[in-house]
Amino acid sequence: MKFATKAIHAGQHADPTTGAVMTPIYQTSTYKQASPGEHKGYEYSRGTNPTRKALEDCLAALENGKFGLAFSSGMAATDTVLRLLKPGDEVLTGDDLYGGSYRIFTKVYAQYGIKFVFVDTSDLEAVESAVTDKTKLIWVETPTNPTLKLADIEAIGKIAKKYAVLYVVDNTFASPYLQNPLDLGADMVMHSATKYLNGHSDVVMGALILNDEALYKQLWFFYNAVGGTPGPQDAFLALRGLKTLHVRMKAHCENARQIAEFLKTHPKIEKIYWPGFADHPGHDVAKKQMRDFGGMISVVLKDADLKETFRIASRFQVFTLAESLGGVESLINHPATMTHGSIPKEARERVGVVDNLLRISVGIEDVDDLIEDLNQVLGD
Ligand SMILES: Cc1ncc(COP(=O)(O)O)c(C=O)c1O
Repeated sequence: MKFATKAIHAGQHADPTTGAVMTPIYQTSTYKQASPGEHKGYEYSRGTNPTRKALEDCLAALENGKFGLAFSSGMAATDTVLRLLKPGDEVLTGDDLYGGSYRIFTKVYAQYGIKFVFVDTSDLEAVESAVTDKTKLIWVETPTNPTLKLADIEAIGKIAKKYAVLYVVDNTFASPYLQNPLDLGADMVMHSATKYLNGHSDVVMGALILNDEALYKQLWFFYNAVGGTPGPQDAFLALRGLKTLHVRMKAHCENARQIAEFLKTHPKIEKIYWPGFADHPGHDVAKKQMRDFGGMISVVLKDADLKETFRIASRFQVFTLAESLGGVESLINHPATMTHGSIPKEARERVGVVDNLLRISVGIEDVDDLIEDLNQVLGD
């Protein structure tokens, strides 16, 4: 099956009791057993729920993986992966990451004796030379949040194989419509399903997708033992959101292309990050591993201090100033004080997350209205 067909049908079957076409919201915590241990595959909804299972199977199909696991947030998914580690282990990861990933690494798992090494994952030599005999996990985000750096998924996969290190790609920014890390050598894909997968800014959810059955069982153990699993209502909404992922992603990419071109030559813009530009340092890697360049753009405002940046960020009429991304509506975010506020100033500025950087999640409204909004805010 091709992508759009999978997005609409994978994991879903007409309800056997009523014929309902849409997977019902199985709003139940528990399931009747005929005798102890004799049941229909469902015992207790922390571990298994039919609505969630349909979503997990659909997610697995979209990422070309065998197994999917849905979590109550992207961070719960990340946490579950990190539970595979032991004190003394090292994690090799990117120096430009979602702030919450940085926070769980440095403020939660570092205190249990796990070491996190941050490198520029667009630099393959830097990645390989940072591997030690203690490295147990390579965690890559691409494109990165918020400066949209590209990591070569396949090349890092070869490094991970060479040193037998578990390799996870956070595919939140690209979505499976644009990029499938499992096909390029990743062992696992992580998603903040809150973003493009659900796509309507009404659910917080995470996901892991993988092929290895033993690893799936290990992760499922933590998922059930710890319990960061989503309820059926959220699973239903995410499943519904997925059905239009391909249509939404096309529109996000097209709108972003027009907005990036508009902003590139704007006198109030000092720098623009969008992987579709030929002069973006990761453009060739993006062309190789992505089907289009995505809906995210970051800009550095010219001659703007924090006060002026706040003034600009607060004046949009169509864009909404808010955290998050990947929904149908366009959002503006100020990473330094919002999504990346938990990263120390020096560390974030080193990778370009400066006070006058704004991140734009381009929605799927009429692009003329979006450009007009940007024009009125930047124009005076
Ligand atoms: C790239 C990336 N990874 C992970 C997360 C965390 O996901 P959640 O907010 O669903 O917990 C986010 C959230 O913004 C993100 O942007």
